[in-house]
Amino acid sequence: MSRVWIKNFSDYQDETVTVRGWIDNLRSSGKIGFLQIRDGSGVVQGVVSRAEVDEASWTTLKQLAQEASVEVVGKVVEDSRAPSGYEMHVSELREVGGAEEYPISPKEHGTAFLMEHRHLWLRSSRQRAALKIRSEVAHGIRDFYSERDFVLIDSPILTPAACEGTSTLFETDYFGDSAFLSQSGQLYLEPAAAAFGKVYCFGPTFRAEKSKTRRHLMEFWMVEPEVAFMEFPELCELAEQFITYLVARVLETCQEELKRLERDCSVLEAVQAPFPRIRYHQALEILAENGKDLEVGDDFGAEEETILASAFDRPVMITHFPASAKAFYMQPDADDPDLALALDVLAPEGYGEIIGGSQRIHDLDLLSRRIDEHDLPREAFQWYLDIRQFGTFPHSGFGMGLERFVAWVAKLPHLRETIPYPRMLNKIYP
Ligand code: 4AD
Ligand code: MG
Repeated sequence: MSRVWIKNFSDYQDETVTVRGWIDNLRSSGKIGFLQIRDGSGVVQGVVSRAEVDEASWTTLKQLAQEASVEVVGKVVEDSRAPSGYEMHVSELREVGGAEEYPISPKEHGTAFLMEHRHLWLRSSRQRAALKIRSEVAHGIRDFYSERDFVLIDSPILTPAACEGTSTLFETDYFGDSAFLSQSGQLYLEPAAAAFGKVYCFGPTFRAEKSKTRRHLMEFWMVEPEVAFMEFPELCELAEQFITYLVARVLETCQEELKRLERDCSVLEAVQAPFPRIRYHQALEILAENGKDLEVGDDFGAEEETILASAFDRPVMITHFPASAKAFYMQPDADDPDLALALDVLAPEGYGEIIGGSQRIHDLDLLSRRIDEHDLPREAFQWYLDIRQFGTFPHSGFGMGLERFVAWVAKLPHLRETIPYPRMLNKIYP
């Protein structure tokens, strides 16, 4: 009677098995008790009948509390009314660890309370569904790039310089010098692209963003591909293939979770290539038609992104931004050098930017001018300039925020539900 997982019950029909898990819920009356047993792989109802268990099991049942951990032995019985299709007819019940009065009850709790109890909130079915989707997307990301022969390059977390602007750096002491938590692995991927051709990194990144929005975390996971000799049009295609692949993957593997989250899957099924592509100046026109008059050079905020995205039924790609509004490393458009070959992909349904990327400057003189124009410390970037000195090559890449993507596919109200332990403005507990 070795331990089995609830999700595999169909392999054990009419057999007696052992399950280890927690009491999700329970009720008992007179001579019968009903336990909702949760083991991480699923939830099953255990039926405990006084006549069929020994005295010790019955006593255990009587004092069992929600979230106590248990070991349950019982027979797997088919039951068409049960959500899992099975029930467990319990013959032995042992408490492994008792539980105090559980703070999270089925009634409504405020978000502040739930966030304070994030370590327990993880056990609830909605949070489990969200994090299961996250896990599946992370697998999908690795599969997508390894199937296409990209080499994984783990970029450092502690870095000597900024990648995405100096205003959002977390600074820390590094043996008397300053170091910064990585905002992006990009600068470290570009040299690796010269070693392997196609590379990607996937790991935590940090932004000290003083913004308290549902789209911002201080610590989030970013996946960044970087490809040698790839120019801008191909970059847009890669982003489009990547998103359609991941959406299809979630639809294929996370039906149960999407259902739990009451996600309308028809919206996801519509996410097929080609995505609409518009240039920055066309985006300004759409915004103006919707009563938002922006100056050329203005960046889009959450409100603008939502207006733009609502004009389309699938992710929209916005390109050719004014160079002045974008990062120092972006390649200018050959036809109009004031424009950058930059790409933002906006998710539908108000989720905003999920991908940001560009073709990179490969000309040494231009890049070094841009470093000066952006007031960046040249010494810290010497190694980055080296790439342009030893066999420079056109190349492109982008970054996608895992949490932004998951929030959109799962249609979650806030990024905090897409990561096990969110780091938010002024908040680092638990
Ligand atoms: O547009 P960003 O800043 O681009 C870069 O960092 C580039 N260096 C990437 C590259 O080209 N290799 O960030 C990329 C993505 C955004 O589109 C968004 O999905 C996510 O990272 N992101 C955040 N996600 C959660 N919280 C935040 N504070 C985020 N900031 C960016
Ligand atoms: Mg961006």
